[in-house]
Amino acid sequence: MYDAGQAAEAGESAAAGMGAATGERITSAELAEEDLALDRSLRPKMLADYIGQQRVKDSLRILIEAAQQRGDAVDHILFSGPPGLGKTTLASVVANEMGAHIRTTSGPAIERTGDLAAILTNLEPGDVLFIDEIHRMNRMVEEVLYPALEDFALDIVVGKGPAARSIRLDLPPFTLIGATTRTGLLTGPLRDRFGASFRLDYYEPEELAHIVQRSASILDVSVDEEGALEIARRSRGTPRLANRLLKRVRDWAQVEGQGAIDEDTAAQALAFFEVDTLGLDAVDNRILDLLCNQFGGRPVGLTTLAAALSEDTDSLEDVYEPYLMQQGLLLRTPKGRQATAKAYEHLGQVPPQE
Ligand code: ADE
Repeated sequence: MYDAGQAAEAGESAAAGMGAATGERITSAELAEEDLALDRSLRPKMLADYIGQQRVKDSLRILIEAAQQRGDAVDHILFSGPPGLGKTTLASVVANEMGAHIRTTSGPAIERTGDLAAILTNLEPGDVLFIDEIHRMNRMVEEVLYPALEDFALDIVVGKGPAARSIRLDLPPFTLIGATTRTGLLTGPLRDRFGASFRLDYYEPEELAHIVQRSASILDVSVDEEGALEIARRSRGTPRLANRLLKRVRDWAQVEGQGAIDEDTAAQALAFFEVDTLGLDAVDNRILDLLCNQFGGRPVGLTTLAAALSEDTDSLEDVYEPYLMQQGLLLRTPKGRQATAKAYEHLGQVPPQE
């Protein structure tokens, strides 16, 4: 049901850009395969193993424990935030903590109402249904979901014309976990049906370093604290990228170094792979170059900037801008997007006077 290739193209462009930035040719299919295999082995299974997002974890723990005490399914949950921050991982953590099965699909993969009906009628009591990119679900499909979420019921129309009638099928209690890059992309009625909504933030370097060390021990790679921190600082606040960079650095250390990863080894390996000191990928750097140079430092409208990048405005707003803003490189002003002095400095240029 769930097309990993499609997901890779839709949501993993930051990681794909990393490939472009390192000068390698990585197809999205290869990337998806590598990421999936990597994700499977490195993903934390339980809340106790999950590093970072402390407030989200605290709330989830309460939600899960309360549901367990009542013998209920957990309330429907919405996770939002840029790609790679752990939305899918947290969904499977919730299922694991509940001792439940997880069924995974994505908004665009559910093309017809019948597809959703088939998924829903195959659920077992307490199952978690994870819908990635839930904002891209077709509106007709979305309407079938409302009674399923509210009453655990499926309304099916049988027959045509005057003989048509609607029958209601009972569904087992289940938990929907939706993932989206931005809650504002969801329709109001869908957003209202989630009992809990969590926004995932970029991870701090210290948290990412901790994740790198955990992953290194699973991969049986030796990395010291400073080495882990060096990888963490260049991981764009994103665990998925931290884990990918760890694998690259491991390869480099194996061939060119002594195998173990310290700060110096990590720095040399990352320089070899042309990973930016702030973890910016090729698209991030192109945005800064456009703002600072091509548009001469003037504010640029969202659609103009997106067109110049050949990206859609949603990716620009939801995938690239949040990290650039968090790093203090880009400002959203009433007149448009503008580069900061730090952006010029990052490009090795002198910022304009005013
Ligand atoms: N691997 C990827 N994300 C992780 C996280 N948040 N904690 C531990 N390991 C991870």
